[in-house]
Amino acid sequence: MAVQISPSILSADFARLAEEAAVVHNADWLHVDVMDNHFVPNLTLGLPVVEALLKATSTPVDCHLMIEDPDRWAPAYAEAGAGSVTVHAEAAKAPVRTLRQIRAAGARAGFALNPATAVEPYEDLLGEIDMLLLMTVEPGFGGQRFLDVVLPKVRRARSLIAAHGGQVWLQVDGGVSAETIERCAEAGADVFVAGSAVYGADDPAAAVQNLRDLAERAAR
Ligand code: DX5
Ligand code: ZN
Repeated sequence: MAVQISPSILSADFARLAEEAAVVHNADWLHVDVMDNHFVPNLTLGLPVVEALLKATSTPVDCHLMIEDPDRWAPAYAEAGAGSVTVHAEAAKAPVRTLRQIRAAGARAGFALNPATAVEPYEDLLGEIDMLLLMTVEPGFGGQRFLDVVLPKVRRARSLIAAHGGQVWLQVDGGVSAETIERCAEAGADVFVAGSAVYGADDPAAAVQNLRDLAERAAR
């Protein structure tokens, strides 16, 4: 499994999104946090901004929907051209239908779990999922402290994924930095979201490269 880095534009300058996307030219994805002030206590951006960003960048866009009604909204992000669309287990009322609609619209289907949500009840859904996202902070804000309590779940998720053929990517999001990324890679994560650790750095592209090097070494 190849290491992939997905910088979160939540920590970028929202007034200069196209330039901020271009700065991380060596990233595999651009992670876009859609927050509705209901599922999480923060409000960011929605489909019109994602559509504008898609026109402004050639980097694949990884939409993380932290919204109350993902069943209603997720397919439109896939239809707009996002490469990956992730919905939360705690919010989706018809996840099988929604994940299938995301795939049918041509995007990878992601399924996210908050820190306190167990992975085992969703084992039978792994065939419907292209990426499992395990939150390593409570969702809502960038710059929070990494929650080590999630690491055993990362290991268990990696085992479940391996038992189901190993095709599903395992993403971690929240507090991922040069201090914490090796622990995540050792536990089995292969897609790493980093907001403040990338956009808070003097040289965001160098930060992406450093995170990639650390994760690749730890995964070996
Ligand atoms: C938090 C978001 C994250 C956030 C991560 O709810 O889902 O993607 O941008 O930010 P850092 O890497 O600063 O913890
Ligand atoms: Zn996110």
